[in-house]
Amino acid sequence: MEAKNIEWKLAMPRDEESKGPAPVWYEAGLRHAWLPYSQMKTATAPLPVVRTHGCRIVLADGRELIDGVASWWTACHGYNHPYLRAAVERQLAVMPHVMFGGLAHEQALVLARRLAALTPGDLDRVFFSESGSVAVEIAMKMAIQFWRNRGVPARRKFLAFRGGYHGDTTGAMSIGDPGAGMHKLFAPLLPAHHIIDLPLDEEAAAGFAQCLERHACELAGIIVEPLVQGAGGMRFHDGAVLQLLRKSADRYDLLLIFDEIFTGFARTGSLFACEAAGVVPDILTLSKALTGGMLPLAATIARKRVFDSFWSDDPARALMHGPTFMANALACAAANASLDLFEREPRLRQVAGISTALEGGLAPCRGFAGVKEVRVKGAIGVVELDNIGDLDSLRARFAQEGVFIRPFGSIVYLTPAFTIAQEELATLTGAIVKVVAQSIAT
Ligand SMILES: Cc1ncc(COP(=O)(O)O)c(C=O)c1O
Repeated sequence: MEAKNIEWKLAMPRDEESKGPAPVWYEAGLRHAWLPYSQMKTATAPLPVVRTHGCRIVLADGRELIDGVASWWTACHGYNHPYLRAAVERQLAVMPHVMFGGLAHEQALVLARRLAALTPGDLDRVFFSESGSVAVEIAMKMAIQFWRNRGVPARRKFLAFRGGYHGDTTGAMSIGDPGAGMHKLFAPLLPAHHIIDLPLDEEAAAGFAQCLERHACELAGIIVEPLVQGAGGMRFHDGAVLQLLRKSADRYDLLLIFDEIFTGFARTGSLFACEAAGVVPDILTLSKALTGGMLPLAATIARKRVFDSFWSDDPARALMHGPTFMANALACAAANASLDLFEREPRLRQVAGISTALEGGLAPCRGFAGVKEVRVKGAIGVVELDNIGDLDSLRARFAQEGVFIRPFGSIVYLTPAFTIAQEELATLTGAIVKVVAQSIAT
């Protein structure tokens, strides 16, 4: 890529509110970085961050933004939580990392035991990896090989749902919404699965039943983001849908996979969405808030019957997966500390309080022409617009209001840290009401 193609619009550091020039590392390094989900030629430049604390992001020019996103929904205890930091620092002094092949360490095994105890039913075996997408790939491999190990190799497809998002790796893309712009380009190259509407109404339920009737014999399982389809548009459904999926999976002897990478760790109001729905999936994926947003870590957790199909004297029945940094000791230490915080601090009560504040704070948007829907579940608040306009300028407007909010698709949303102060939350919702009103008026 030629330097002249990287004409960055340094919107934030150079606008009139900026207190100084962008730092040298920013100007020099940005020319060499390839940023996520961005048309690099036209994208507004990212904001240079030098520090985080609590629910604040500190920019290079000294300004502080109140964070409405919690770093893609990970930093559930706020940034730099002293308890998490201390746990990671202690582990850093002893052993930052050791490979998990042929070796095991306390932080990983303690975490595996705790996750097995926290998740419902006999979700008992934890396979660690380092990102959500990989956790989903592993879930898919587990499900396909479950059937192969049981002598049914034809069962290797998945039933997944429109509006779903499970990650950016090949397998994860193949079960995401094929109509979603993001991965459309790759759709013809991906393995074909059955992607249908969630059975939310009679017509969709009939389509779901028909799909199972026709294709169950080639399906390894059903995969869903329970209660909230996140990156696909923050769409909500209720527990009854998940109970129907469980019943149908049992009827056709399919594995049910819950991707709780977004919903896990209290985001929807209970520790796990599966718990709220009263459904035990056969495989569960977790990541994002698993380490309280400190370090990358993911887990794919299997029920006993899934694990048992791999338990054999035959090496060919083993799960052949092992990411280099799986069960990283620093990340596991952060995750154990994060679980301590969930035990010791009133996170579920805080989520309930955030829910109420989001309802009240975003309610004025309901009256705006051009607002399609305002919805809240747990610590997720969404304003969906008919026509969102230019996302980049909307994001810049939020920054000018002193908040970090990152609209996508047709939605403006908040997923703050559970520790956010009432006034900070009020500033976030106030900024949304103001900016949405202005954007509709223009
Ligand atoms: C439900 C769900 N699954 C999987 C992923 C992919 O996780 P990662 O970005 O860590 O690969 C995401 C990320 O947003 C997600 O929300």
